[in-house]
Order: sequence, then structure tokens, then C-alpha cells
Amino acid sequence: MIHLSNVSVIKNKKDILKNINWKVKQGEHWSILGLNGSGKTTLLNVINGYLHPTNGQAKVLGEQFGKTYIPDLRKQIGLISSSIQQQIQDFETVLSIVLSGKFASIGLWEAVEKADVELAQKYMKLLKCDHLQEQAYGTLSQGERQRVLIARALMADPKLLIFDEPCNGLDIITREELLEIIENLSISASYPTLIYVTHHVEEILPCFTHTLLLKDGEIFDQGLSKELLTEKNLSNFYERPVSVQKEQNRIWLALKEIVEQK
Ligand SMILES: Nc1ncnc2c1ncn2[C@@H]1O[C@H](COP(=O)(O)OP(=O)(O)O)[C@@H](O)[C@H]1O
Ligand SMILES: [Mg+2]
Repeated sequence: MIHLSNVSVIKNKKDILKNINWKVKQGEHWSILGLNGSGKTTLLNVINGYLHPTNGQAKVLGEQFGKTYIPDLRKQIGLISSSIQQQIQDFETVLSIVLSGKFASIGLWEAVEKADVELAQKYMKLLKCDHLQEQAYGTLSQGERQRVLIARALMADPKLLIFDEPCNGLDIITREELLEIIENLSISASYPTLIYVTHHVEEILPCFTHTLLLKDGEIFDQGLSKELLTEKNLSNFYERPVSVQKEQNRIWLALKEIVEQK
């Protein structure tokens, strides 16, 4: 699904990504965990073909960037991110936003068929936003916007579905509702490979069997989530002692109090 070898991104003489080697196989769902500014969104921009690596090679869905027609490839990759959110016009209705997903366009410019509307309605139902279909985007809550964006992304029948910090700005109940929807998407075999980017460990759902730890533009560690997300490893990752607790088959993190030695 994804194969990055020795990928680096340099901007304004700054190494934003350094020597990234990462493979995602079909059937795996990955989370990418890293602090603010660690390079997560930049990594997603490489995968989406929005950013060309300064060095190294990026292959996505078997196609190598530089040798393929990116708009066609991008139609197979669904992206749920704040940058997509910001591009949507406030007056656009939910139905039209979801329909635009079929064409991977911002705004609906092409003729739609009855079958498209039926499919959009199916996904709006799945994402619990069918009651909003006539409502303007600008009037939606943050949680509703995220659900609409997921329905939109599913319209193109993507092979890869990428979430860039989808729970930012959500209260705990709304966040858990969204996470439940994402977990359900992972269960159905007909749905795509999921990549979930976050800076909160507790958002890593059990379906994310694999995790990539990204730190200062470099891979700190990668592999099976249950082996990676341990107290010892995360303390090293955050460079301070943390304690972890398991709840709902997820890891919840707390910083340990640092007791001054006398
Ligand atoms: N186009 C750019 N030019 C210069 N610096 C950039 C550019 N894009 C991102 N950066 C910097 O690269 C770092 C990683 O950014 P980003 O990938 O957005 O991190 P994250 O998504 O993990 O918070 C940040 O320090 C950011 O300021
Ligand atoms: Mg980011």
C-alpha cells in the first residue's frame, strides 16, 4: 500500500523528514504518533503526492511518484484533514459535499446520477449524518464536519483512508463517537486500509495494529502497537517518565510526577 525508502524532505535548509523507511502492507492499519511539529502532516503530504521528497522514493498503491499521474492516484486515497476542511465553502450543503467525494474535488462541478445520490445517502447513514444532508457546512459542529468528511472520502471507494488528527477540537463524548465509527470502518473487509495520525496515545484504537513513532522528522520506532506502546518505550520517546494504563483495549498516558532528589 505504501513503500517509502530513504525519504527526506528539506525545506528552507531545514530537515523536516529524515531518512524515512516505512512499509504498509494490505490488511494492516497504522497509527502515526508524534508531538506537534514532528513531521506527521508532511509525511502525509508525501503519501498524497502533494509534496515531492527531496531525496528517496515514495511508492503508493504500487505507483511511484514521478512516474504516475497523481490526480488518478489521489482519487484512491481518502484524506480527512483540517486543510481539506478549510477549503470547503460554508454555504455548501452536506449532500453536495459528500457527492463531491466521488470526483475528489472541492465543490461539486460534475453531473451526478441517481445512483451517486443513493450511495451518498448510504454513507451519510453510516456516518450518522443523513439528517444533515440539506444543512450548510458553515452551520455544522466540528464533530458533524468530521463525519461528513469521512462520508465524502468513502464516495471515491478509496484503497487508503488517511485521518490527520481528526479528533482535534472534539469533546470527549464526540471524540469517542467518532472513534467508534473509525473502529467500525476497520472491521469491514470492504473498507480501506486506515492510517491514523495523532498526538494523543489514547486515540490509538485496537484496530491500529501497527504504529509509527515519529520524532523530530525521524522514525523513532515502528512495529506492532502492543509492543511499542509500553511505559518504557514511551518514556524514552517523550524523554520524561510516563505511566500507562489500559482501558477499552487502548493505552492512556499520564506524565509521572518528577520528585526532586535532595
Ligand atoms: N513548507 C514548509 N516550509 C518550512 N517549514 C515547514 C514547511 N512545512 C512544515 N514545516 C515545518 O516542519 C515541521 C513539521 O511540520 P508538520 O509536518 O506540520 O508537523 P506535525 O503535523 O507533526 O505537527 C514544523 O516545524 C513545521 O514548521
Ligand atoms: Mg499536523
